[in-house]
Amino acid sequence: MNILGIETSCDETAASVVRGGRKILSNVVVSSLDEHRRYGGVIPEVASRRQLECVYPVVAQALEEAGLKLGDIDAVAVTREPGLIGSLLVGISFARALSFALNKPLAEVDHIQAHVYANFLGEKRPRLPAVGLVVSGGHTSLYHVREPKGFRLLGRTLDDAAGEAFDKVARFLELGYPGGPAIDRLAATVPQTGLSFKCAALQGSLDFSFSGIKTAVLYHRRKFQGTSPYPVAEVARAFQDSVVQNLVEKSFAACRKLKAKTLLVGGGVAANSALRRRLEAESGREGVDTYFPELSLCMDNAAMVAGLGFHCLN
Ligand code: KG4
Ligand code: ZN
Repeated sequence: MNILGIETSCDETAASVVRGGRKILSNVVVSSLDEHRRYGGVIPEVASRRQLECVYPVVAQALEEAGLKLGDIDAVAVTREPGLIGSLLVGISFARALSFALNKPLAEVDHIQAHVYANFLGEKRPRLPAVGLVVSGGHTSLYHVREPKGFRLLGRTLDDAAGEAFDKVARFLELGYPGGPAIDRLAATVPQTGLSFKCAALQGSLDFSFSGIKTAVLYHRRKFQGTSPYPVAEVARAFQDSVVQNLVEKSFAACRKLKAKTLLVGGGVAANSALRRRLEAESGREGVDTYFPELSLCMDNAAMVAGLGFHCLN
């Protein structure tokens, strides 16, 4: 079954053809990120206008790269929520019209579940039930995953998402937008640091909170702004270490609580090199198999939407 996936929830316009829920035949992503950079965050109006311009050519390119015609598509899948409403509307309207015109089924899927589903694309066969950790610009949540489309929320951030905290801290440190990759790169240049910033532990809970650590970095920056040179890389390292530690501790606490032996990580922050390293190192000790999507499938993409769509229709 060939499913055409369409993803337009934020600043990426993406289309992909996936066969049988796993085999990626094409995966096209266009981003309007460059237009948002100077504002330090995504401007919804700009994003949705670019979605309108890009959706048709991106879908056409995904079909061409898959070597297929519209008539070879068995179903359409699209991101229903969450996301920016103007951006979502473009993809949903396009997908509904296509499904209607082709007389093929339509699956409207959840973006967060799709990020976790990215771990099932390709040859991997993660065993379920699992704990799902979604860490993106808009979400930081833990789920009990019993089947690819069956999720139960275990905990979530009470304020900022992890990616949002990376982006805001990067802004205080004048590292540009998006901040996650910049902090990741800079933190890797210092082997260790005596600096320390703490995430709120929220003992006994699987919820997260990142707004306190973000403010702590802001106050540090204000207090030591005059210091020459201000230790930007050390601050980035200390901030990242603490966020990673918090994500790792909560993820394995959830695995222990549910006696789950599989951890599925997804979302943009799943690309973070320190998080990947720490989770891998702890997995052995915890007796848990941890999965990450390959880097290109951590970010917003439509292959994860098409893949999850297959399970929603079957
Ligand atoms: O999943 P995604 O592409 O979009 C949302 O659904 O939000 O995630 C984007 C987020 C941004 O906040 C970005 O800073 C963060 O993922 N990110 C990273 C890294 N690469 C992207 N955060 C930490 N380390 C990275 N290497
Ligand atoms: Zn996302």
